Amino acid sequence: MKTVKVNLNKRSYKIHIGNNILKKLPSLIKLDKPDTPLFVVTNKKVNTLYGAKLKKALKPLGKKILFYEIPDSERAKSFPVYIKTIRRLARFAKKVKPFVFAFGGGVTGDLTGFVASAYRRGVPYIQIPTTLLAQVDSAIGGKVAIDIKEAKNIVGNFYQPKMVICDLVFLKTLPERELRNGLAEVVKYGIIKDKKLFSFLEKNIKSILKLNAKTLEYIVFKSCFIKARVVEKDELDTKDLRAILNFGHTLGHAIEAASCYSRSVMHGEAVALGMVMASRIALKRKMIKKRDYEKICSLIRRVVPKTKLKHIRLKNILNALSYDKKFIYGVNRFILPEGIGHVKIVDKVPDVLIKETIENTRV
Ligand code: NAD
Ligand code: GLY
Repeated sequence: MKTVKVNLNKRSYKIHIGNNILKKLPSLIKLDKPDTPLFVVTNKKVNTLYGAKLKKALKPLGKKILFYEIPDSERAKSFPVYIKTIRRLARFAKKVKPFVFAFGGGVTGDLTGFVASAYRRGVPYIQIPTTLLAQVDSAIGGKVAIDIKEAKNIVGNFYQPKMVICDLVFLKTLPERELRNGLAEVVKYGIIKDKKLFSFLEKNIKSILKLNAKTLEYIVFKSCFIKARVVEKDELDTKDLRAILNFGHTLGHAIEAASCYSRSVMHGEAVALGMVMASRIALKRKMIKKRDYEKICSLIRRVVPKTKLKHIRLKNILNALSYDKKFIYGVNRFILPEGIGHVKIVDKVPDVLIKETIENTRV
């Protein structure tokens, strides 16, 4: 088992990564009060696949446990599901402070973290991510949120988990498209911070997609390590440091919102397109060498080969873009690559360049 510590003073926590590590949960967890009930938020798919396994792992703690199922899609990150979940939690843990578990992909993690952040002004929670995307990104760093029709992740909090457990065993049942979806975020880490990771991905995509345990552990560990170091420097996203994690997300989020969060474009796929678009903007602004631009596009195309955008109207993408959380006082803000391994925050990218880039990247 490998461990990455996120150093945030009183809010510090560990990310454990390895194969079949769920059974170690009771030895890793600290529950102060003897009567703490455990509230596990999950969905039907994950519960059917792995609910019994988690129940068995939690049994030695001897606590009252409830597995609560939320719908399986981005629609779960909504006010109606948030309210239903928090009310069920209130009825379950009437007189005592519960301990909450987010057991599933990024959707479950974001919604559950938001619930945990608000209930009784905050109760402890653990992230047990079961998709690659959640293990390398969404379960770490404490950004928790739900969506509204106008924009994604716009209602939320910063609320760090007490622990993250990335058991690689879960990835065995992930459809390949979901695996590629998560890999897009790993490519992101290579481009923003780590040339070696980028080269590793270029050489090892096939082995990763075949779920080779060693390569998987390496990319999850590296991703968690990079994200932890960035989050430590700018936990609340106020110092223009954490923003680099949003490379590819400016246009990525707009694409997701414009497609009404349907799975026709998954989060990682939208981010992949967003990264290609940001790199093209960087090329046009002469910030990046053509060779690096081509390497980025080529790796992204190998990771996420078939994302179609033609059905999404340009007008809708541009409208969604105007809700981007990075935009301040109406000025747009992009994270653009200067090469492989480093990016720069750039404000005021001309609208005409944004439009031209979206049109050119649509297939
Ligand atoms: P998801 O949670 O919808 O999971 C994808 C699908 O995989 C679902 O159908 C789910 O039921 C299924 N699934 C989960 N685990 C499985 C397993 N082990 N085997 C088989 N199927 C499994 O989507 P996601 O891609 O994990 O997460 C996307 C969400 O994460 C988006 O809402 C995005 O905004 C959010 N996100 C948040 C952050 C953050 O910092 N908080 C960062 C990146 C993404
Ligand atoms: N996913 C972006 C962040 O955590 O800041």
